[in-house]
Amino acid sequence: MNEKDTNPGEPWVFPKWHNRIPLIFFGVIGPVVSVLAVAGVWYYFSPRFTDVGYRPEQPVPYSHKLHVGELGLDCRYCHTGAEISSSARVPPTQTCMNCHTQIKTDSPDLRLVRESWIEDKPVEWVRVHKTPDYAYFEHSAHVQAGVGCESCHGRIDQMVEVTLAEPLNMGWCLDCHRAPEKHLRPASEVTTMGYVVDEAMGLKLKDEKGINPPLHCSGCHR
Ligand code: HEC
Ligand code: HEC
Ligand code: HEC
Ligand code: HEC
Ligand code: HEC
Repeated sequence: MNEKDTNPGEPWVFPKWHNRIPLIFFGVIGPVVSVLAVAGVWYYFSPRFTDVGYRPEQPVPYSHKLHVGELGLDCRYCHTGAEISSSARVPPTQTCMNCHTQIKTDSPDLRLVRESWIEDKPVEWVRVHKTPDYAYFEHSAHVQAGVGCESCHGRIDQMVEVTLAEPLNMGWCLDCHRAPEKHLRPASEVTTMGYVVDEAMGLKLKDEKGINPPLHCSGCHR
């Protein structure tokens, strides 16, 4: 140990550099610890894909309330995959431009959409619903069986910004798989919002179509 580091007057005290420990703690380690603590709290408490109410901000203020609730567009006009493939798909810019080459052509709210069209680059919509990769989900099996979009996504026609309406966790999937009759409607009503499911009709549809959702692990974990 270097002579300069000790205090000759008080032989039993710690070398001087120890005085810097509080400084090191509050100056360096402290902030790092508190940043980690904040990050931890933020991670565990911030809304995620399984938190009902999760509503990320979107790059363009597209409103389902306006386009579906007021203009009356059918979900499948934009979500072309919902009935036929595993992914419902978010529409390409071209779908918006079917109308917006004529409507609101100079709206600042549509600037990114116009840029996307001119530059041929997709709008970067933020994902709201996501099941983990180890769980298998497909839209077509559900929609074709007669489960309405509303059963899983809520009243989209009333949402200005899409909000997670259901938790998308395993218990939620299984609740319906055990009693699908509470959610089955005729094929013609799958995109109807505000449809009231009639359980007797649900049971009838279940029998007619032989609907039997998987409860075994490998049904969803393939
Ligand atoms: C005019 C086109 C259009 C129509 C019609 C439309 N949507 Fe959408 N939808 C979008 C766009 C664009 C997004 C991505 C931006 C957003 O989340 O708001 C989206 C997002 C969504 C999402 C969230 C996707 C995610 O990231 O998890 C759901 C769920 C959804 N729509 C359901 C519906 C349902 C149900 C209907 C019918 C009642 C419908 N949409 C009608 C364009 C449309
Ligand atoms: C079937 C025609 C149609 C389609 C398709 C359509 N829109 Fe619209 N959109 C409209 C109409 C009509 C309005 C309302 C215009 C008004 O308020 O006078 C509107 C309004 C808007 C507005 C508000 C603009 C403003 O200044 O008030 C935004 C943003 C918007 N649409 C985004 C989109 C996006 C993004 C898509 C594609 C995912 C899309 N729209 C697809 C017809 C359409
Ligand atoms: C049985 C529940 C269920 C039904 C019914 C359902 N969805 Fe979904 N939807 C989900 C789940 C779960 C996800 C997340 C999927 C993933 O991560 O792969 C999702 C994701 C989406 C997305 C985001 C893009 C994608 O495909 O991952 C859109 C858009 C969407 N749904 C629209 C619809 C529309 C429109 C309907 C009705 C025609 C519908 N959904 C019916 C459960 C459902
Ligand atoms: C509101 C009701 C409901 C919810 C919620 C639901 N399902 Fe289903 N699921 C069904 C019905 C109905 C079927 C169709 C069964 C049939 O046709 O025999 C089905 C079928 C399936 C199948 C079999 C598809 C095939 O092609 O083999 C899988 C896998 C599946 N669901 C996964 C999930 C997962 C994962 C979730 C949760 C993220 C989920 N489901 C949520 C009602 C639901
Ligand atoms: C109807 C579809 C479905 C069936 C059947 C199913 N799971 Fe899951 N499981 C899921 C989904 C969806 C998740 C993702 C949950 C989340 O994101 O919170 C999941 C998550 C899990 C996880 C991760 C831990 C957790 O709770 O998030 C484990 C472990 C698991 N499942 C085991 C099983 C076992 C064992 C079985 C059979 C007894 C089974 N699963 C049957 C859909 C299913």
